[in-house]
Amino acid sequence: MKKLIVGNWKMNQTLPLAKAFFSELKTVELEHEAWIAPQALHVSTCLHMSPDFIKIGAQNISNEDHGAFTGENSSFSLKELGGKFVIVGHSERRHLYAETSSLCAKKIRKALSHGLNVIYCVGETLDEREQNKTSQVIETQLKEGLHDLGPYASELLIIAYEPVWAIGTGKVATPDQAQEVHAGIRKIVGDETRILYGGSVKPENVVELLNEKDIDGALVGGASLKAADFIALCQAQL
Ligand code: PGA
Repeated sequence: MKKLIVGNWKMNQTLPLAKAFFSELKTVELEHEAWIAPQALHVSTCLHMSPDFIKIGAQNISNEDHGAFTGENSSFSLKELGGKFVIVGHSERRHLYAETSSLCAKKIRKALSHGLNVIYCVGETLDEREQNKTSQVIETQLKEGLHDLGPYASELLIIAYEPVWAIGTGKVATPDQAQEVHAGIRKIVGDETRILYGGSVKPENVVELLNEKDIDGALVGGASLKAADFIALCQAQL
């Protein structure tokens, strides 16, 4: 079955490196769907450099369309450029920039209203996992972030489960640990909504994760920066 691999480049990659990355991608036919979120300043250039089969999106977005919001980027402008998706509520946004699930709810509604796909990230910290609070934390993040959306199973909505303790640490959740949380998320969002796993996904562990029933793809940081690794992820044989 076709899965979705989303590369989150964070504040990495130079334009020459991005160009080389996309040139390499143009030479292959990918098994799975592939999306890339470069830093906002690179979105426009990446839209021109990337092959047509790659969707380009943003790592964060404003909850407003226009106006006096210095430094913000709007869904309206992303859509106007040709961007296709936004990531909302990444743990780095939550922990470094104090973004709350209720702010995420506003961003999600705004992006969906412009027809953009939204990847809404949820995940527990190590402390929360050790206190057996994982499902409670995820449920609250989902309830607050998806509050007032109407039917959760909007085709445009995607959930990413990213345990905070697994992001950029090399500590990946075991397939069982990930599947258990994904099954809980599935009960809340339904069968139509894709659920990605994120947190130290790499070519060596992607197959066992993607083989889990409720894991529809991966949100990948570090291993999405090099074309060879990203291609390997997108070619995973399941
Ligand atoms: P990582 O990042 O793959 O480097 O752990 C994942 C993410 O932050 O989305």
